[in-house]
Amino acid sequence: MIDLLILSIWLMLPAYIANPAAALLGRGRPIDMGKNFTDNKRILGDGKTVRGFILGSLCGVLIGLIQIWLAPSIAPYLAAYVGQGMLLHASYIALFTMPMGALLGDLVKSFFKRRLGFERGAMMPIADQLDFVLGAWALTYLLDGAWFVANFSLAIILTVILITPILHLATNFIGFKIGRKDVPW
Ligand code: CTP
Ligand code: MG
Repeated sequence: MIDLLILSIWLMLPAYIANPAAALLGRGRPIDMGKNFTDNKRILGDGKTVRGFILGSLCGVLIGLIQIWLAPSIAPYLAAYVGQGMLLHASYIALFTMPMGALLGDLVKSFFKRRLGFERGAMMPIADQLDFVLGAWALTYLLDGAWFVANFSLAIILTVILITPILHLATNFIGFKIGRKDVPW
């Protein structure tokens, strides 16, 4: 149990960090430049900014770099929980595809949210919580399938799907409390 949790969070960390980092650091020019889609609703909305995307991705990459750097020294201590090989198996492609895929997934979700008539920030259960997981996985599978398959076993995939909505709601609640998010979801 504990090994699955540790490994799931470890593997997802660069993707997990990207979202709250975008929320903390994002502001200014929206990616869709304020433009509407053919349905006269915003393409993405003011909640998706260039700054949020870039700085959110960078923070994820930074965390991933720290993880790759730390792995050799902490792997022996975690060997009882997770196979050492797992922690030491780094991918410099996944380093980028996990956080960037996460924020791309978030953009895709916002695009569909706008098409369905949800305002920026409106809650869309499941989609809001799993968009970035699916984005991170899809982009990583596409660009480094071998690393993805080697690390994301069915057990880990299921663990991530179960724990992500809980972690996401918890961080969003903190973001709301510290005034970085207008709504607690
Ligand atoms: N954010 C950003 N740029 C991004 C993603 C997020 O600047 N690419 C910031 C925005 O300030 C956004 C906040 O992070 O309001 C929270 O992100 P999220 O919940 O994904 O956006 P929402 O405002 O809820 O918009 P949407 O309804 O489109 O999901
Ligand atoms: Mg939201």
